[in-house]
Amino acid sequence: MDSFLIKGGTPLHGTVAVSGAKNAVLPIMAATLLTSEPCVIRRVPNLSDVRFMAQILTWLGAEVSMKEGTVRVQARKIRGAGDYDLVRKMRGSICIMGPLLGRLKKAMVSLPGGCVIGARPINLHLKGFEALGAKVVIEAGYVQATAKRLVGSAMFLGGRSGSTVLGTANVMMAAVLAEGVTVIESAACEPEVVDLATFLNAMGARITGAGSPTMTITGVKELHGAEHEVIPDRIEAATYAIAAVATNGDVTIRGARPDHIHAILDKLKGAGARIDCTSDGLQVRRNGKLKPVDITTLPYSGFPTDAQAQMMALMTLTPGISIITERIFESRFMHVSELTRLGADIEIEGPSAIIKGGKPLSGAPVMASDLRASAALVIAGMAAKGTTQVNRVYHIDRGYENIDGKLRQLGARIERIEES
Ligand code: EPZ
Repeated sequence: MDSFLIKGGTPLHGTVAVSGAKNAVLPIMAATLLTSEPCVIRRVPNLSDVRFMAQILTWLGAEVSMKEGTVRVQARKIRGAGDYDLVRKMRGSICIMGPLLGRLKKAMVSLPGGCVIGARPINLHLKGFEALGAKVVIEAGYVQATAKRLVGSAMFLGGRSGSTVLGTANVMMAAVLAEGVTVIESAACEPEVVDLATFLNAMGARITGAGSPTMTITGVKELHGAEHEVIPDRIEAATYAIAAVATNGDVTIRGARPDHIHAILDKLKGAGARIDCTSDGLQVRRNGKLKPVDITTLPYSGFPTDAQAQMMALMTLTPGISIITERIFESRFMHVSELTRLGADIEIEGPSAIIKGGKPLSGAPVMASDLRASAALVIAGMAAKGTTQVNRVYHIDRGYENIDGKLRQLGARIERIEES
C-alpha cells in the first residue's frame, strides 16, 4: 500500500486546477444505464472510485471507454437483476439501483454495509422506491427492488440527519421513467444532485426544482443519449484552499466555483483567510493571524461534512479553542487520533471535537482511515515541523486526482512511496 512522505514547513504557492467532482460523476455514470443510446461525460477525474464504477457498468453489460478525462458509455442491453457483490466494495455504487429499477423495473445489489464514518443505511432510498410502487426485499445480504409499473407519487425523503444525497439521486433516476409526477420533499440540494438533474434533463427527463428541498419529476417514456461536462469538485477546491491557509501560502485555485462553497469560504474568512475571486477561480492566502472558529456540519448549503476533517487540521494550528460538531455522520472523527499523534490537542465530547489549537505540530507516521481524513493528515503534515508519513493513501486516491503531483506543483515537499 502506497504512502506519502511529507516534509513540512513549506508554504504552498502557485496555481492548481480543480478536477471534475467525484460525487457528481458517480451518479451521472450510473444514469447512463437509463438509455440504450451513447452518452459522453467530460471532465471526469481519474480516480479509483471512477474506474471502479466503469467496471461495474461494464459488468452490467454497458460498453464503457475512458480516455483523457472523457467517459463514453452505451448501455445497449444490460443485465437484469444479478449478483452485484461489487457494490460492497464501493458504497457509492448503490446509485446503480435507481437506473436499473427505472429501466428494467428490477434491481438487485449487495447491501453496501457501513464504513469507518458510519452505518450508512439505505432505508430512505428504499422508502423512495416503494413510494414509486416497487416491492423491496432484503435477504441474505442483498436488496432487491422489483415493480410491474413505476407510478409517480409524493414522498418525504428526510432522515435523522436531514436529506440524503445518493438517496435523492437514486429515487430521481427511478422516477424519470415512472408514469406520472413524482414530488420529492426534503430532497438533497447539493450541487452534485443539481448536476445529475442537468444531465438527466439533457437526456430528455423533465425535472424541476433541483437544488431546492422540493423536486418535481414528470415521468417520460424513454430517455436518449446526451453529452455533459461535470461540475468542478467543490471539496477538492476547499481542500486546496484550506491547505493554502494552513501552510501560510498563496494559492490560486483554477476552476473553483465560489457559489458552491459559500459556507466553507465564510468559515475560512472567519479563520483569518483572504479570499479573492479571479477570472476563473479563487486566490487564497492568510490575512493576518489565524483565528478559531466554531463549525457544525449540515446538509447543503450548510458547512459540508466532507470538509470537516480538513478544517480541523487548520484549527489545530490556530491559537484558541475551536469546536467542530459533526451532525451528518455518527463517527467521522477518525482523523482526531492521528492528528493527536502530530501533537494536536483535541478532545471529543459526543458529536463535537474541541480543538485547543496553536501548539506547533511535529511530524510522525500516521494512518489514513477515510478519504477526507487522509486529506486532513496531508494538510497537517505540510504544516508540521519535520517529516510525516501518511500510510494507506489508497483512501486518498479514491477522491483526489493526482494530489501529490498537484501539491508538488505548489511547492510542497511530498513524495509517494510505492509499496511493491
Ligand atoms: C454522499 O454520501 C457523498 N458520497 C458523501 O461523500 C457525503 O459525505 C454525503 O453524501 C453527505 O454529503 C457520494 O456522493 C458518493 P447521505 P451519501 O445519504 O449519499 C443518513 C466523500 O467523502 N441516511 O447524504 O451516502 C446517513 O446515515 C463521501 O466524498 C439515512 O439515515 O450520504 C447520514 O447520516 C463520504 N438513510 C446522512 O443520512 C438513508 O437511506 C447523510 O447521508 C441514507 C442516508
